[in-house]
Amino acid sequence: MLDIKVTRTQTPKAKPDQTKLGFGTYYTDHMFVMDYTEGQGWHSPRIEPYHPISLDPAAMVFHYAQESFEGMKAYRTADGRVLLFRPEKNAARLQSTHKRLCIPEIPVEDFVQAVRALVHEDKDWVPSEPDTSLYLRPFTIATEAHLGVKPSNTYQFIIIASPSGAYYEEGMSPVKIYVEDEYVRATPGGTGFIKCGGNYAASLAGQVKAHELGYSQVLWLDGVERKYVEEVGSMNCFFKIDGVIRTAPCVGTVLPGITRMSCIELLRKWGYEVDCETRLPIADVMAAAKNGTLEEVFGTGTAAVISPVGELRYEGEIATVNGFQTGPVTQRLYDTLTGIQWGKIPDEMGWTQEV
Ligand code: COI
Repeated sequence: MLDIKVTRTQTPKAKPDQTKLGFGTYYTDHMFVMDYTEGQGWHSPRIEPYHPISLDPAAMVFHYAQESFEGMKAYRTADGRVLLFRPEKNAARLQSTHKRLCIPEIPVEDFVQAVRALVHEDKDWVPSEPDTSLYLRPFTIATEAHLGVKPSNTYQFIIIASPSGAYYEEGMSPVKIYVEDEYVRATPGGTGFIKCGGNYAASLAGQVKAHELGYSQVLWLDGVERKYVEEVGSMNCFFKIDGVIRTAPCVGTVLPGITRMSCIELLRKWGYEVDCETRLPIADVMAAAKNGTLEEVFGTGTAAVISPVGELRYEGEIATVNGFQTGPVTQRLYDTLTGIQWGKIPDEMGWTQEV
């Protein structure tokens, strides 16, 4: 159990207009901070007024990108309660990121306590307009000032919070996805399965190219054969082909999304056949679009929620999905998941916890 010291701001900020939040633009009054020092472990957990951080220019995070992050949300229910969604899953995923990057792990219960403490402190910042939430960004940075390549011996774990609306401008309207055939996101043995900034830095060139061509996001293929679908820039991706719902297996190159996991659990509970063990060739997706068996495509993610995909472009060929309309499974998942998160329907899965 952490002994969290709280220092409240003396100058609370004005809250932004909840109907014009966008994504990740505004920040609350406070932040959670905890330090790590070799020999001492994680220590000095505290909540402080939100402030810029000061680091030595030689801090290792700037040079060798020893950094991890998570994405999660706090939701406001109609009767004014605030809910978190499966925070222990984010804690466990952060641990696997830390393990891969040689960063000392944070105990699951300490992570959850820290998240709850910050949300409790900034509860008034959890917005209540439809489709808004308080996006939470826990992250860890290597702070030792040293230019040799080795794991840092000091770190800082920080959580910031941002009242946000939809991640995509399109909201719940279908997005257009560009299947990237030049750059790759991840290769076996690399870092594709963890959440670290480097994965996203390496994805930017593909994303810029896709934007220039009028597409919102990139669908990445496997890094070895460039043959199998893996994931989209900010979400996992599902394909309903001939009645079977398929998504890339999490075998080291795909991020194990918590929304992905929750969708698989819901779909199986509803009796759908879900195949998340077999790799899916992009050629099969394009062929299914041609012969009329590509029924639905959607992305899943904390920020993106459930996002219908209306068009895929691969090597100049265009596949339109479900007449560019949101499909029934996509809609049902969206309604159920957001219904649980915003407390509109009973949480039979036991996924939420009140702050
Ligand atoms: C999330 O869905 O929370 C993410 O971390 C994706 C992101 C890079 C916006």
